[in-house]
Amino acid sequence: IRTQVAIVGGGPAGLMLAHLLHLQGIDSVVVDNRSYDEISTTHRAGILEHDSVTMLVDTGASQRVLIDGDEHEGIELRFGGVGHRIDFKTLVGASCTLYPQTDVFIDLYATASARGAALHYGVRDTEVVDITGSPRVLFTDAAGARREIAADFVVGADGSRSICRKLVADRTQYFREYPFAWFGILAEAPKSAPELIYCRSERGFALISQRTPTIQRMYFQCSPDENVDDWSQERIWSELQARVAGPDGFTLNEGPIIDKSVLPFRSFVQTPMRHGNLLLAGDAAHTVPPTGAKGLNLALADVRVLAEVLDRAINSHDTEALDTYTDRALSRVWKAQHFSYWMTSMLHTVADASDFDEQRQLGELSTLVASEAGSTYLAEGYTGWPSRRRW
Ligand code: DHB
Repeated sequence: IRTQVAIVGGGPAGLMLAHLLHLQGIDSVVVDNRSYDEISTTHRAGILEHDSVTMLVDTGASQRVLIDGDEHEGIELRFGGVGHRIDFKTLVGASCTLYPQTDVFIDLYATASARGAALHYGVRDTEVVDITGSPRVLFTDAAGARREIAADFVVGADGSRSICRKLVADRTQYFREYPFAWFGILAEAPKSAPELIYCRSERGFALISQRTPTIQRMYFQCSPDENVDDWSQERIWSELQARVAGPDGFTLNEGPIIDKSVLPFRSFVQTPMRHGNLLLAGDAAHTVPPTGAKGLNLALADVRVLAEVLDRAINSHDTEALDTYTDRALSRVWKAQHFSYWMTSMLHTVADASDFDEQRQLGELSTLVASEAGSTYLAEGYTGWPSRRRW
């Protein structure tokens, strides 16, 4: 197979890139070792920044996000048993949209299939070779045949267990581990509140999110080695209710829990994001903790820059554009790293916290909700720092 850009990883980042390249007249081939069913049923985050929605809609990748997506103009920060609304629309004139990552994937896949894109899912034994010369991607396809793609460029959009990132020579990696994880559930129940609730309690953090009018998504801080089988439905509900309880009498609407899992939790960045003719995008180059739902948005932001530099390199023979990729992508990556770390540390409890630490954390939350400057800072980060590119 001969193509201009071989994309390793057919999640939202890889498929969005393939779509943008196609609009620029650049052909690509996508390979992924997972199946369509695996990706479309693995629950991930659910919040799209304003610019992520614009990218999906204005490029024709998804119209459904405007129909099935739910616009949210704020969130609630809850601590000490009291809720405080952060009004994004008033503070920064922006909103975000609740639209699950699985739906973003389904739409991007449908768009790619409709134009007859070269997509290979369920492949095995993927190898990337000669990235500083004439790159090739080797893989065994779902039917068991060994295949080879010769490409001008390879993009590693192959997620947090990336094989591509290991090919970047002279790489620097930055890590931060956290002493907790998230327990995530899907429940068949009506919404408990109109907007998302980020709740700090003495028992730990809880996030009340949503999926549809009849299915809700919720998370609570847990131990990294928590076993989902130790948590009965009754135990989960009583823990969640205890975390959100307060003098206002707020309670969650309960219902059958149809999915439960423990989410990994860490911060990671690898630089540079380019080596020779290999470029990394999304989780392959960086991971954020889930608080604030930046992961997918950041991957789409990478892809926005990547499509532009590949366009210049391929269509205008301006290969120097590629040299700018790492710095341009990383400037947003580190903003999002800080934002996710900050939201996390402001809302989670740690076992060895002193009384001082706890009171200081409450002091920070009180300052934030009482200050227009503080609330505006949160609103800017949550809705996403605007990019200049328009479609
Ligand atoms: C969701 C996940 C997040 O990490 C977040 O900050 C907001 C929403 C979600 O899955 O709905």
